[in-house]
Amino acid sequence: MKRLRVGLLGCGGIGARHATAVGVLKDEMQLVGCCGRNESKVREFAARFGAEPFTELRRMLDSQIDLLIVALPPFAHTGQVEQAVAAGTHVLVEKPIALDMTRARSMVDAAAKAGVVAACGFMYRFGAAVKRWDAAVKAGEAGRVGLFTGQFHCNALHADWWRERAKSGGQMVEQLIHIVDLARHQLGEPQTVYARTANFFHRDVAGYDSDDVSAIVLGYADGRVGVLNATNGAVPGQWTKLWQIVAERMTGRFTGWNTATLTHTIGAPRTEEIDEQIDVFVAQLADVAAAIRERRPPAVPLSEGAGTLRIVLAARQSAAEGREISL
Ligand SMILES: NC(=O)c1ccc[n+]([C@@H]2O[C@H](COP(=O)([O-])OP(=O)(O)OC[C@H]3O[C@@H](n4cnc5c(N)ncnc54)[C@H](O)[C@@H]3O)[C@@H](O)[C@H]2O)c1
Repeated sequence: MKRLRVGLLGCGGIGARHATAVGVLKDEMQLVGCCGRNESKVREFAARFGAEPFTELRRMLDSQIDLLIVALPPFAHTGQVEQAVAAGTHVLVEKPIALDMTRARSMVDAAAKAGVVAACGFMYRFGAAVKRWDAAVKAGEAGRVGLFTGQFHCNALHADWWRERAKSGGQMVEQLIHIVDLARHQLGEPQTVYARTANFFHRDVAGYDSDDVSAIVLGYADGRVGVLNATNGAVPGQWTKLWQIVAERMTGRFTGWNTATLTHTIGAPRTEEIDEQIDVFVAQLADVAAAIRERRPPAVPLSEGAGTLRIVLAARQSAAEGREISL
């Protein structure tokens, strides 16, 4: 089997995570190029992963890249995905794929037109516990899902761009989006969104105008409800992502994508503990590689990146206007 030639655009924190995942899948792919703005940093990064450094995307695409992993901060998306897919390159794009729907739709449409495999980095969906829940729903074991609650709590200043709402979109758009994506995936497409946000803990930190307290209610015509919240004022150095799902015959308490307690609630309650060690970044990349080989859509297409972005942007609009938004 010919190994896929992978290029990485954006050599920061998550870029390193993807480069490591490519290394784990070394029998089917190799990282051949890394591209970033800062020449010395890119050189150092590329040397660490045995790849060639680039500061121009065009030159990296010209070196016969099969798959481009886009790990840029959201504000830096200015047409690179469109450029890559027009060159016939498959793409895996980190969330949030953009900060507005015009840009998001432009990427999705360009990828569809080019006929390439285009995936979004919602890697939570590859976790063992998430997959077990999905299988239970598919098999009719769980029944209808009625309630999804979830949180994303942390306490860190993160990168400079992250603190700026205009560059990151804010905590709801940049972080809570993962949990919103799970809600959308497991509860369904909401009809309404209501949200409140505030910069409560960091208003005195220079350059920090992002929300650090937020809550979203997702509404459905038939009564289903999703309730999500985020804060960047919780325990320093800890990222706590928790969610719970209540369905007719089953509940799930998730402490991560790989760990959950599922309870079968009909008759005498019976619990099932899920605790596995799936590397979701590797699983996500393996799925993209299989999609390329098998000429099929990836498990999480780029259009899902746009679909979930639409919800968090509506939440931001709701908070700004103080009203519920109909989608
Ligand atoms: N899936 C996840 O759980 C997860 C986790 C962290 C970050 N992310 C996402 O990954 C993306 C990057 O986040 P990060 O934490 O790696 O950020 P980072 O600040 O650590 O790295 C970003 C890199 O992109 C580079 N860059 C910025 N603008 C550029 C441009 N125009 N051209 C080329 N390079 C440019 C920067 O120099 C930096 O090296 C964000 O969208 C973030 O939301 C996802």
